[in-house]
Amino acid sequence: MSKSLQAIRGMNDILPEQTPVWRYFEGTVSRLLDNYGYKQIRMPIVEFTELFKRSIGEVTDIVEKEMYTFEDRNGDSLTLRPEGTAACVRAVLEHGITGGGQVQKLWYIGPMFRHERPQKGRYRQFHQIGLEVFNLDGPDIDAELIVLTWRLWGELGIRDAVKLELNSLGTSESRGRYREALVEYLSAHHDKLDEDSQRRLKTNPLRVLDTKNADTQAVLVDAPKMADYLDDESRAHFEGLKARLDAVGIPYVLNPKLVRGLDYYSKTVFEWVTDKLGAQGTVCAGGRYDGLVEQMGGKPTPGVGFAMGIERLVLLLETLEQIPEEISRQVDVYLCAFGEEAELAGLALAELVRDQLPNLRLQVNAGAGSFKSQFKKADKSGALYALILGDDEMAQQVVGFKPLRGQGEQQSIAWDALAAHLATCVVQG
Ligand code: HAM
Repeated sequence: MSKSLQAIRGMNDILPEQTPVWRYFEGTVSRLLDNYGYKQIRMPIVEFTELFKRSIGEVTDIVEKEMYTFEDRNGDSLTLRPEGTAACVRAVLEHGITGGGQVQKLWYIGPMFRHERPQKGRYRQFHQIGLEVFNLDGPDIDAELIVLTWRLWGELGIRDAVKLELNSLGTSESRGRYREALVEYLSAHHDKLDEDSQRRLKTNPLRVLDTKNADTQAVLVDAPKMADYLDDESRAHFEGLKARLDAVGIPYVLNPKLVRGLDYYSKTVFEWVTDKLGAQGTVCAGGRYDGLVEQMGGKPTPGVGFAMGIERLVLLLETLEQIPEEISRQVDVYLCAFGEEAELAGLALAELVRDQLPNLRLQVNAGAGSFKSQFKKADKSGALYALILGDDEMAQQVVGFKPLRGQGEQQSIAWDALAAHLATCVVQG
């Protein structure tokens, strides 16, 4: 027997029963971002491999071992995007839309690809909504990014389940000085470090800070602290951010070990984490990357942003049972017609109603069927009301209007009064 075709491990279908929650989440976020003045940008899913190597960093887990990289028919090395920031920077540079200090407040949504070990909340194709802001260097915009996510958690009913962790990596100069001090300290304790940290000490020493290894963690207790190496500019920026979060009343935890897995950050870094999802608890993460645009060949341009993982937030909504009941109902009214003449009249009537009530979710029965079978389908659709067109209704030019969820008796409504009647009983989304 031939092997049945399957989706690739870690790449999931999102089935019709799941899409209402996704659309609810995406709709809530996009409305909020519109209200805060962010504009959507759409970038390709595939880019030159070089873009990610240069931005994310050669010695990061993503670039070293997680990218889906392949050669195309021209012999170019291409990569399925593992994240959105690099492509967004490429796009704004290519189109010159951050030139001359122009502020851009952008957002994007879409699939990202990382060859990680799949588990709950961690997939090989996953989806992010990301924000990137260019040409604003003050802590006010860092604060706005956090404030708007705080509002989002409130609207979604998950605020109590997430915690904000915050750190500052400082300017590249202060980070350079810190890196030296850390390397000197860790080198003196080289033998006590786990193998991975010994390797990172040479390639990317700050990443030693977020090791999971208990022995290395013990060594880190007395290691130099990043906060002691921040220069005045970085310190003032971080204080400015904290003051704004305090002003709005957003709680945060300072986490000096928060360094992030991508190399482009400077100053602010943050993560929203939950303990409700097991090991993959970071639902939203980001920070400032003031050096990245220049590093990618542009003029010095401050940048700051974050991305949230849609799968993880959908899981969190489901875990906390914070899914509004009404989003799973996708049909308001179901029209049943019996016999060919009624079917033709029903089709025309449905279009008239749709002309007048463009937001009404009206499903017309397809595939004919007996009275019983059409009613069964009407009920299963979740509709609140069934419309019935049979011989009697055709003769009188009316339609039977039957509540399906136990709100009263069946009535007859004249065809030309149907839209007005529906408008009074269905709240349209
Ligand atoms: P990141 O921390 O790599 O940052 O990813 C952001 C979020 O995407 C994570 O917090 C998580 O919710 C989700 N995520 C990441 N990997 C997976 C996965 N394998 N499966 C499911 N969800 C995942 C970035 O990507 C940066 N570009 C964020 C950023 C934007 N920084 C500045 N601007």
